[in-house]
Amino acid sequence: MSTTLQEATPSLLSERSAAVVAATAGVVAAHAEQITARFYPRMFAEHPELLRVFNQGNQATGEQSRALAASVVAYAVHLIDPEAPPFDRVLERIAYKHISLGIRPEQYTIVGYHLLGAVGEVLGDAVTPAIADAWNEVYWLFATQLVAEEARLYQQAGVDPARPLRPYRVVRKIEETQDVISLILEPADEAGLPEISPGQYVSVFVDLPNGQRQPRQYTVSSTALGNRLQITVRRVRGANGAPDGQVSTYLNDHITVGETLEVSAPAGDFVVQSSNGPLLLASAGAGITTVLPIVEHIARTQPNRTVIVAHADRTAQDHALRDTVLHVGRQLDNFTAYTWYETVGPDDHRSYQGFMDLTEIPLPANIQVFTCGPLPFMRHIRSTLLDRGVSADSIRYEVFGPDLWAAQIPDEPTHP
Ligand SMILES: Cc1cc2nc3c(=O)[nH]c(=O)nc-3n(C[C@H](O)[C@H](O)[C@H](O)COP(=O)(O)OP(=O)(O)OC[C@H]3O[C@@H](n4cnc5c(N)ncnc54)[C@H](O)[C@@H]3O)c2cc1C
Ligand code: HEM
Repeated sequence: MSTTLQEATPSLLSERSAAVVAATAGVVAAHAEQITARFYPRMFAEHPELLRVFNQGNQATGEQSRALAASVVAYAVHLIDPEAPPFDRVLERIAYKHISLGIRPEQYTIVGYHLLGAVGEVLGDAVTPAIADAWNEVYWLFATQLVAEEARLYQQAGVDPARPLRPYRVVRKIEETQDVISLILEPADEAGLPEISPGQYVSVFVDLPNGQRQPRQYTVSSTALGNRLQITVRRVRGANGAPDGQVSTYLNDHITVGETLEVSAPAGDFVVQSSNGPLLLASAGAGITTVLPIVEHIARTQPNRTVIVAHADRTAQDHALRDTVLHVGRQLDNFTAYTWYETVGPDDHRSYQGFMDLTEIPLPANIQVFTCGPLPFMRHIRSTLLDRGVSADSIRYEVFGPDLWAAQIPDEPTHP
């Protein structure tokens, strides 16, 4: 994204609104999750068609509500505080997510109306006209930047926002592990496969047996299949009384070869740059789906680039795509693989027992890190690597859900 946009941002908010936002940011932050929790039911009551665009799992867990709240607060802080961390990564992630779901500029009016309405509902009479105006300005600045970035991304991908999805036929279904399948998808229209940067995801829209239509994001787990792409889906099991994951269960159990899925253009900025620096790909569980396309890409384009893969899983049997990653890794001059399993088989003398621990493994200087897995896993990896002197801006991460980290992540180590 252009840095000019970022540099220009602090002066965008009018002086009058900046003072009001500075005075009220604390109160809004303290109530932000309450506000966004009110916002969604209001909006869905008036626009039930949006239930088919928003991930209802993230609604049930409240994660989307928290991500929206955190992003608006972080955006406001970044407008009034020149010392605030840069916001471009957060903006870019949201814009990519939006374009994968076909979000259009006119929908910002709906969201704005209900979000500001929810502010009024929660804060009541405390919201004077001056406060309402100031936060309205913040919302529309954010919206305008998102709309502009989304227009750029739609254009770059050659996608008409009125028709953001294309039909893909399931041509193969592969059982990778007991709980993981891969689907090989081929465009079912006239057009060829879009350009996919390794590490990017697509939004897949599924018509569920209960009549609901739901989107989910899946990383393109292989881009080395000619006119086809592959996604790899780990079944999510409900824990502590929560239901099993809707879409992952449907794809694991019910989708069959020959059926068609609606799929978005590739999106996401979890993408390796073409420098020749060494790479560490640290994944856990379903995060392995980001590793294979990156290793494939390096094997194709820079086979002499150093790549270290480190993966954590429950057991070797749960470690999806393992053999394929090792097979492609053999095409590299300098490839090392480490594994950590919660339970290591008696004949496995290469894997470590327990959670991933990167304190001891040899790391070349100037390593670029790509990490993908559950948030506590990535926090742990990041903190170990910062302690080892890896610079914060060399560490990229991908969250398989609404990003509850981006708006808070500090740029520098927080520990002594
Ligand atoms: C950028 C990105 C890339 C991704 N790539 C991959 C990938 O390559 N492979 C992959 O497998 N996944 C990937 N994911 C995750 C994927 O998009 C889905 O989130 C995942 O498949 C779960 O979806 P689901 O419909 O099965 O679960 P959901 O139905 O959405 O449920 C999610 C969670 O919410 C809980 N829940 C649902 N309803 C309730 C309720 N009423 N009360 C309490 N808890 C509830 C469920 O128990 C479950 O734990 C990616 C996500 C993102 C954002
Ligand atoms: C300024 C306005 C907006 C802000 C600040 C905003 C913010 C966000 C954030 C932070 C996320 C989570 C991104 C992530 O995955 O990490 C998100 C996702 C999403 N947004 Fe927006 N958004 C805005 C406008 C809109 C509009 C106008 C729509 C259209 C109705 C929309 C629909 C969605 C949907 C469907 C998702 C995915 C939700 C999910 O997967 O649970 N957003 N947005």
